[in-house]
Amino acid sequence: MFARVSSASLLGIDGVIVDVEADAASAGLPSFSVVGLAEGALKESRDRVRSSLKNLEYNIFARPITINLAPADFRKEGTHFDLPIALGLLAATENLPAESLNDTLILGELSLDGRLRGVSGVISMAEAGAAAGLKRALVPSANASEAALIEGLDVYSFDTLGETVSFLRGGVDREPVKRDGAKALYPSYDTDFSEIRGQMAVRRAAEIAAAGMHNIIFIGSPGSGKTMIARRMPTILPPMSMAEALRATKIHSAAGLLRERGRLVSKRPFVSPHHTASGASVIGGGALSKPGHVSIASGGVLFLDEMLEFGRNVLEALRQPLEDRQVTVSRASRTVTYPADFMLVGAMNPCPCGYSGDKKRECTCTPGMIEKYRGRLSGPMLDRIDMHVRVSAVDYKDLTGMKEGESSAAVRSRVEAAHEIQRARFAGGAAAFNSRMTEKQTALYCRLDGKCEKLLENALDKFGLSARSCSKILKTARTIADLGESESIAPAHLLEALQLRTAGWE
Ligand SMILES: Nc1ncnc2c1ncn2[C@@H]1O[C@H](COP(=O)(O)OP(=O)(O)OP(=O)(O)O)[C@@H](O)[C@H]1O
Ligand SMILES: [Mg+2]
Ligand SMILES: [Zn+2]
Repeated sequence: MFARVSSASLLGIDGVIVDVEADAASAGLPSFSVVGLAEGALKESRDRVRSSLKNLEYNIFARPITINLAPADFRKEGTHFDLPIALGLLAATENLPAESLNDTLILGELSLDGRLRGVSGVISMAEAGAAAGLKRALVPSANASEAALIEGLDVYSFDTLGETVSFLRGGVDREPVKRDGAKALYPSYDTDFSEIRGQMAVRRAAEIAAAGMHNIIFIGSPGSGKTMIARRMPTILPPMSMAEALRATKIHSAAGLLRERGRLVSKRPFVSPHHTASGASVIGGGALSKPGHVSIASGGVLFLDEMLEFGRNVLEALRQPLEDRQVTVSRASRTVTYPADFMLVGAMNPCPCGYSGDKKRECTCTPGMIEKYRGRLSGPMLDRIDMHVRVSAVDYKDLTGMKEGESSAAVRSRVEAAHEIQRARFAGGAAAFNSRMTEKQTALYCRLDGKCEKLLENALDKFGLSARSCSKILKTARTIADLGESESIAPAHLLEALQLRTAGWE
C-alpha cells in the first residue's frame, strides 16, 4: 500500500513542504530504502525509525519498503523526517488510517526507544505548512510553543511515537497547544544606559548610531567603558516589530538556538563572538551549513570586542555581509543565503599599550608600532564603519560623584521617533534605515546646499577621505537631521557627522 505524509525542510531560513511517500509491497524480500535524504542523515534515520517501530512491536519490516521524499530536486537534511517516515510506514502497512494524516504537517526526530526529540527550524517549517494550507501540525513537545507562533495551524505536541499513533487513531482527545506569543515583544533588559555616567559625547554618538542603524567603532584606553556602552546598545533600540521578531526567531531556529526555549525571539539580538572565533562560525556555512554570528545578529547588534584581535580573514570576510546585508555560503551540494542585516559595533584600543591619546597615562608605543597595529583594520573595512568614536576614561573619583545618566527608555523614545521618520521616508522600498540607503537614495535624501557642499569638499581634502566614507558621512548627517526633526541637512548636522567620522583617531 501507499501513503503520503506532509513534512517540510529548511532552505536557508525558509521552510519548504516535502512529501514523504511510503510504499510497502505485499510480497518480496525484506528491504528498507529511503530516497531523497542526504547521505549523512540517511542511515541514522533508518535505524531510528526501524528501532522505534520495533519497540512498539510493529513487525512490518518483512517486506520491501520504499520511502521517497519529494520534490526530488534537492537532498533533504535534518533529523526531523523520522516521525513522518514512521507514521507513513504505519499508514502504508494499514496500521494507521491513511486519512488521519490528511492536511497534517509532521516533524520530529525519534530516539531508538521511540521518544520524540526537538528539532531545528520548526517555526519556518510550520510557516510553510500554514502557507500550503495544511490545518494542523504534529511536533515534539520541545518544539510546541515554537510551532504555535505561526497562526493558522493547530499544533499538537507529543513526547513519544506511541502517543502520536494513539492520537491519530482517534483514541485520545487532545487540545491544541495554546499560543502566547505577542506579549513578549516588549522585552526588559537587566542593563541600562543610566548606568553610564558622564560620557555625554559618547552617549550622543551611540544614540545617533542606533537612530540610523549605523556601524560604529569605539576607540579608547582600557577601562574607559567601551564594552559597557556597546553592551547597552540594544536597550536604546526600539522593540522589534512582529515581522522582525519572526525573522529573528527563524534564524535562531535554523541555527539550532531555540531548541529548549521555543519562544519568539523578542529582544534585538546582541551577538558578541570571541576574537578567536572561526570564519565559519562568524560568517556561517561550514560542515552543517548553519547561520553564523552575522545572521544571528540580524535586526540587532554584532559586537566585535577587541576588534583588532580578530583574524584578518574574519574581518575581511565581513565586508560582503556589511555591503549586501546577506551572506551566501556554499557547500558541496548547494548554496544557501541567510540574512545578515546587523549593526556593527566594534571596540578597540588606540595602540598596543592602550594609552595613546590618554589624558592621564603616557603611551609607550612608537609611531611605527601604532601604525602597524591600526593597519590590522584595512581601509575598505574602515570605510564601512560610519562612525569612529573616541572614548576617554572618566576618572574613578569623578565617577562616584556623578549622577546617573539618562535612562535607556528616554534615549529610546528619540531613537524610535527617528526610526519612524525613516520608515515613512523609505515606505515600500528595500532600505529601512539611513545607513542602508543606495547611492541613488543618498543623492535624493541627502541634498546639500552650497554652504554644506563647500564644507564637505574641504573636509574630504583635509582628511583624504574616500568616496565611500563621503557617502557614509552624508548618511550619518541625514540621521542627525532626523533626530533634530529637520527636513534638510544643515551645516551643524554635517559637521557633527564629519567629526564622528574623523575625530576618533586623534
Ligand atoms: N562612564 C562610566 N560610567 C560608569 N561606569 C564606568 C564608566 N566607565 C567605566 N566604568 C566602569 O569601568 C568598567 C570597565 O569598563 P569597560 O570594561 O567597558 O572598559 P573597556 O573600555 O571595554 O576596557 P578594555 O579596553 O580593557 O576592554 C565598567 O564595567 C564600569 O564598571
Ligand atoms: Mg572592553
Ligand atoms: Zn601606546
